[in-house]
Amino acid sequence: MPKSNAESWQPNSWQSKPATQQPVYANAQALESALQRLRRLPPLVTSWEIESLKNQLSDVQRGNSFLLQGGDCSENLEDCSTDAIVRNLKVLMQMSFVLIHGSMRRVVRVGRIAGQYAKPRSSDFETRNELTLPVYRGDIVNRSEFTTADREPNPELMLRGYERAALTLNFIRSLIGGGFADLHHPENWELDFATNSSRASDYRAMVQSITQSLKFMEVVLSTNFRESYGVDIFTSHEALLLSYEEAQTRGVPRRPGYYNLGTHMPWIGYRTNDLQGAHVEYVRGIQNPIGIKVGPQTSSQQLVELCRTINPENEPGKIILIHRFGHKQIDGVLPNLIAGVQQQKLPIVWCCDPMHGNTFMTSSGIKTRSFENVFSELVSAFDIHRDAGTYLGGVHLELTGDNVTECLGGASEVAELDLTRAYKSTVDPRLNYDQAMELAFLIASKMPKSTTRK
Ligand code: PEP
Ligand code: CO
Repeated sequence: MPKSNAESWQPNSWQSKPATQQPVYANAQALESALQRLRRLPPLVTSWEIESLKNQLSDVQRGNSFLLQGGDCSENLEDCSTDAIVRNLKVLMQMSFVLIHGSMRRVVRVGRIAGQYAKPRSSDFETRNELTLPVYRGDIVNRSEFTTADREPNPELMLRGYERAALTLNFIRSLIGGGFADLHHPENWELDFATNSSRASDYRAMVQSITQSLKFMEVVLSTNFRESYGVDIFTSHEALLLSYEEAQTRGVPRRPGYYNLGTHMPWIGYRTNDLQGAHVEYVRGIQNPIGIKVGPQTSSQQLVELCRTINPENEPGKIILIHRFGHKQIDGVLPNLIAGVQQQKLPIVWCCDPMHGNTFMTSSGIKTRSFENVFSELVSAFDIHRDAGTYLGGVHLELTGDNVTECLGGASEVAELDLTRAYKSTVDPRLNYDQAMELAFLIASKMPKSTTRK
């Protein structure tokens, strides 16, 4: 750990700071018992993988690669199924190949997966028909059904969350290691319902061109890329439930400092990025790359201090600034934040989340986002970074490979009346397969082309 953070930090030092968004567990003994068992269980990821991701992110920072971070707003324990995992993996793989092909850059794939179970909420309680209960905070804390028993925070759910994350990760590792990601067999990532998608033929043409180039190179170089070409998928989730994160925080042999071994890349949310707060205190001491969400209320001074606090040694690939302003606000806020960081020469991976600033309710009370607004924020982000001389190194998206109708618009023209047809998210609306692929092609067309050989 960098010296300046090592002195005063401990995995539990967050406990002396104000911690927002935490559940109140009624039974302290039950909580301690769950945490004790959690601390004894093996890690989900390793420090080698975390260091490798940091290294790949430092490449993003230098403008040589691009970060694609995406997945569900919130994973549910019940949705830990073959289909859901494969679909999300397939759409991430397909999007990443569109981005590689369009930009001639490597793509670092990071899922909002295998641990994205805790959600920040705007109030602690919810009232329905004169009954007031604790708010639903994600499947790792309590259940969404509106009954007293379901809403009671239950520490055992942390173990269920850890187990589901382990099952998800185990399946991802087996798929990736077992040939699912083999470029010679792109049919492995096809989604059955996607054959009629507006982007299916563009995608197939691109895959054919990649496969042919690959074969050509293999003949010329007398090699088989299957052996040397490894596809990585890293995991990420919001480090919100701090007792859970603390239990996953461990030292490792022959490396200094502490790692969060429950995920490769934890992030702190927009609601918990307070400099004096417990979440910043927790992330400042771990070795993982850290995502920091920033939004319309973040001042340039706060941003600079956040970077200094979390990355005092200016380690490259360490900080991913995920900005989420909304399409109307980005022009007014982002240039100023960029200027502040540039003045201090802070090493940053800039990443745009065009989802969370663009959420609204329809007149019938359905939470949604419009594809147009999402794309418009992304276009502004590319333009603003280009004008400032900074590199927009990534996107952070809520999406699914499933054929849901949660966001409006896109080429398949999801309309307000369609929203009830296949709305499955329990929290924020996600882009469906068609919308995600369309966005990937649009992003690829906006990305500056890499001119050097990497
Ligand atoms: C999220 O990523 O699901 C989220 C709650 O985002 P933000 O912290 O940006 O509001
Ligand atoms: Co969300």
